[in-house]
Amino acid sequence: METVTLNGTTQTEQDSLIQKELRQKGEIPQHVAVIMDGNGRWAKSRGGVRIKGHHAGVESVRDTVEACAQLGVKHLTLYAFSTENWTRPQREVNALMTLLVQTIRSETKKLHENDIRLTAIGQLDRFPAKCRNQLAEAIRLTKGNSRMELCLALSYSGRWDITQATRKISEKVAKGQITPEAVTDELISTHLVTADKPDPDLIIRTSGEFRISNFLLWQLAYTEFYITKTYWPDFRRDELYKAIECFQGRERRFGKVSEQIVSNESEK
Ligand code: FPP
Repeated sequence: METVTLNGTTQTEQDSLIQKELRQKGEIPQHVAVIMDGNGRWAKSRGGVRIKGHHAGVESVRDTVEACAQLGVKHLTLYAFSTENWTRPQREVNALMTLLVQTIRSETKKLHENDIRLTAIGQLDRFPAKCRNQLAEAIRLTKGNSRMELCLALSYSGRWDITQATRKISEKVAKGQITPEAVTDELISTHLVTADKPDPDLIIRTSGEFRISNFLLWQLAYTEFYITKTYWPDFRRDELYKAIECFQGRERRFGKVSEQIVSNESEK
């Protein structure tokens, strides 16, 4: 596999070997979602201001994106800014906006060179024009890339997503375009902002919290959880590998019993 150099470094032989072993051991999740948490606490524990943690978190984003692409993950969704994050002190919100613009500006070329497609989900119209324009430009440039999708959840919340899908469906019912009976699980999924991707196979949450925090509420129905105490700015690929190894050891029954899963596997 081709070497990705998102942070300007070349992949070490040892790292390639670890990735090869992971691929041989089991399935690589197609879609990984991440709740990047603990930036503020990371900064505070070092006597710094919260935004320092967000800045440090960018390096974790870089390493995670790079390692996921190298491993063969097809979709990586990062919870970068929740709807609720708008209620943070204005100074922190402004600093996060600036960081977002800077990061997108500095990383787009490398994402493009590495065949990674940038997308975004959420109430993007709530962002300042500068942010929206930078994002739109990066999305447009990388539109045709197919190695991996990097999806940023921005001003996103799971309840908002379900609400906007419900509205769209209700309008169709009201106009007589579909009957109430046509409203199924599948139909709802196709009206969510994630309609073009599979549900996440694995979700990672950093900083040891056991919450979904209004992330992909509908889409996480059968997603495997991996929670680590590590604060996001300290999260690196070794921890990602641990999460994937843990995922590979899980039996995904999707509501069935173990014997059904085993017999299905043997029929393949
Ligand atoms: C949660 O930590 C993190 C965020 C709200 C922002 C995440 C943003 C980044 C990692 C920076 C850039 C990202 C991209 C994709 C360009 P927290 O502030 O809630 O930490 P705390 O729980 O310790 O207070």
